[in-house]
Amino acid sequence: MALWGGRFSTGPDEAFKQFNDSLPFDYQLAEQDIIGSVAWAGALKQVNVLNQQEYDDLVAALNKLLDEVKANPQAVAVAGHEDIHSYVESALIDKVGDLAKKLHTGRSRNDQVATDFRLWCRDTAEHILEAIAELKGEFIALAERELGTILPGYTHLQRAQPVLFSHWCMAYVEMLERDESRLTDAKNRMNYCPLGSGALAGTAYPIDRQILAEGLGFTGATRNSLDAVSDRDFVVELLSCASISMIHLSRMAEDLIFYNSGEAGFIELSDGVTSGSSLMPQKKNPDALELIRGKTGRVFGAFSAMMMTLKALPLAYNKDMQEDKEGLFDAMPTWLACIHMAQACIKGIKVNAERTLAAAKGGHSNATELADYLVAKGIPFREGHHIVGTLVQMAIAQGNNLEDLSLEQFKSVHSIFESDVYPVLEIDACIKARQALGGSSLEQVTSAIKYAKKNSK
Ligand code: ARG
Repeated sequence: MALWGGRFSTGPDEAFKQFNDSLPFDYQLAEQDIIGSVAWAGALKQVNVLNQQEYDDLVAALNKLLDEVKANPQAVAVAGHEDIHSYVESALIDKVGDLAKKLHTGRSRNDQVATDFRLWCRDTAEHILEAIAELKGEFIALAERELGTILPGYTHLQRAQPVLFSHWCMAYVEMLERDESRLTDAKNRMNYCPLGSGALAGTAYPIDRQILAEGLGFTGATRNSLDAVSDRDFVVELLSCASISMIHLSRMAEDLIFYNSGEAGFIELSDGVTSGSSLMPQKKNPDALELIRGKTGRVFGAFSAMMMTLKALPLAYNKDMQEDKEGLFDAMPTWLACIHMAQACIKGIKVNAERTLAAAKGGHSNATELADYLVAKGIPFREGHHIVGTLVQMAIAQGNNLEDLSLEQFKSVHSIFESDVYPVLEIDACIKARQALGGSSLEQVTSAIKYAKKNSK
């Protein structure tokens, strides 16, 4: 039964009904719709629309319905009603008859759906925050396991300067911390309750909306009814948090796909997150990471779709806004699955420290150290840069590293070089030199790990 048949002489066309119905996807709001209805029944009791007995009967029936929808959510999806609000009302009529018809007094589906959806978003944000914290913990554990392992650091995908492998791990911990902080902000901002805003103008019953809001775990009630029923910023913000975080996961995936390649051979992914080729028996493909990278586009697609849907919508509610759900219902579980999968990948990584060290020693990635050596001897950096460039050319011509040049060769470019140049060129010296805050020295990385551990408690 539709919630609005009285004004119409015929029912909707079948094609329109299918086009218009949201139950096939908003059934996912069943729990929130029922919890919101229990709270609304309380508000109606407060203004004497329901007496104590009616309230008790309605709440008992709603709680029973809650158990039923939890036990079989899929059955709700195919029940054929227009939306989750129609479904709940009709299921309630089946249980308590005409009494159920009082529940929609002073309420609109507009403030109802806005409330349900915020509740759903808040719960989902909490799950995701837990998952991010676990993924952070996994990166920290890897950083501790590999403390001391040296990795070539890249810019332009050219070997640039050696870094600690743990420094790489902790870079992603930083990104994840920002993801957490962004999501927490979004969650706090969305945590205001639209219920009691009516269709657009506010409800005509003297309901204490603050108490209603707090009963549902909200910080408070929304302050403007027009805005409350038409605001979907919280959806945009969540999708934006998701998109930014997916970009981080995608960059991590890309780094690891490269590290895992035959050419780099820096890490080996576990069998549990890789798959084989149907044709080439030797293959072990990084599918989990490729899918994380691939799904990033899908999540961002939902974000941009939501932005386009909202653009130029007049106040207040418009049916366009029903398009807010499918994208988010797809993007949030996708994000969550990617965080879990990233964790599984990180957990099973085996690092080949010999390969990473050998690669870090190649590519003349100690050239900056050599320039700094000259600076310490009083040569201006720009001049030192040029001198070292000449030495790099010399080493390349010889097919060697800088540390393999003889002292005579060094001196042939500049007389200031002495045998004290060799210790400077050692890879450990390159790492050790990065002592300033945020650098890749063992001390800095160790304190970054300590800070992250303290922060995540
Ligand atoms: N299914 C609708 C949605 O998700 C519920 C609100 C309907 N409101 C209305 N005025 N038709 O947006």
